[in-house]
Amino acid sequence: MILKRRLWAAYRGFRSPERLVSLAAVKRMKQADEERQAWQQEAPRWERIATIACDALQEAGVTGGQMLEIGGRLNPRQAEFPAFEYHALDLEDAPDAGVQVAVGDITNCPHIPDESYDFIFSLDVFEHIDKPWLAAQEIQRLLKPGGVTMHSTLFSWRYHPCPIDYWRYSAEGLKSLFDGLECLHADFDFSERRRDLRGRDGNLIDCDAIGGWRENVRVNYAGRKPLR
Ligand SMILES: C[S@@+](CC[C@H](N)C(=O)[O-])C[C@H]1O[C@@H](n2cnc3c(N)ncnc32)[C@H](O)[C@@H]1O
Repeated sequence: MILKRRLWAAYRGFRSPERLVSLAAVKRMKQADEERQAWQQEAPRWERIATIACDALQEAGVTGGQMLEIGGRLNPRQAEFPAFEYHALDLEDAPDAGVQVAVGDITNCPHIPDESYDFIFSLDVFEHIDKPWLAAQEIQRLLKPGGVTMHSTLFSWRYHPCPIDYWRYSAEGLKSLFDGLECLHADFDFSERRRDLRGRDGNLIDCDAIGGWRENVRVNYAGRKPLR
């Protein structure tokens, strides 16, 4: 009787799901491992974003002028666009930013005249704007006719308040926000989908076998204001 129970327990252990690894699962794990490493073969993030911005500027024939970076108090990009006179607008001041930051809210900036800028740019800002539809209206008002705007934000990434985390976007969502512009680019960027950022910037959430927090997808939009 005891022997029969022991044999039965051994059989159950042998069949347990934790023990069984099917060929399909092995294949998936191998694929996950390859995906986890794949982002290292891609061009660095800033290079990918700068390429989209520069292509859009070139396509629109914008070679210089006034540039506004929204959310420019952290990592301002003035050096990346040397042909432009750079201005930064942010909710918060940053005396050590290395650029002069005008404190203001892009959803409501009536003090900035219409058609002030040739190029309006933001990186990792739109997910932090409480009312992005108002920001898009203001950006369209602030652009000169023929001017270009580019925004790089997130389709999927973990919650990261700075100062508050409100939204995620699809490429179509960004196009819809900027419906008064001619779209030059609206697409997802999957390059860093499985990037493993454990331990960076105080990220304490454990990765899973696939890397990242399952999904890390960027989305980029560039548009041109029609000429009158
Ligand atoms: C995650 S940080 C990104 C900063 C920088 N572009 C970078 O790549 O590191 C988001 C910035 O957007 C600013 N921000 C959020 N909402 C804003 C708004 N409505 N108007 C202007 N700036 C805003 C925040 O204060 C913050 O500095």
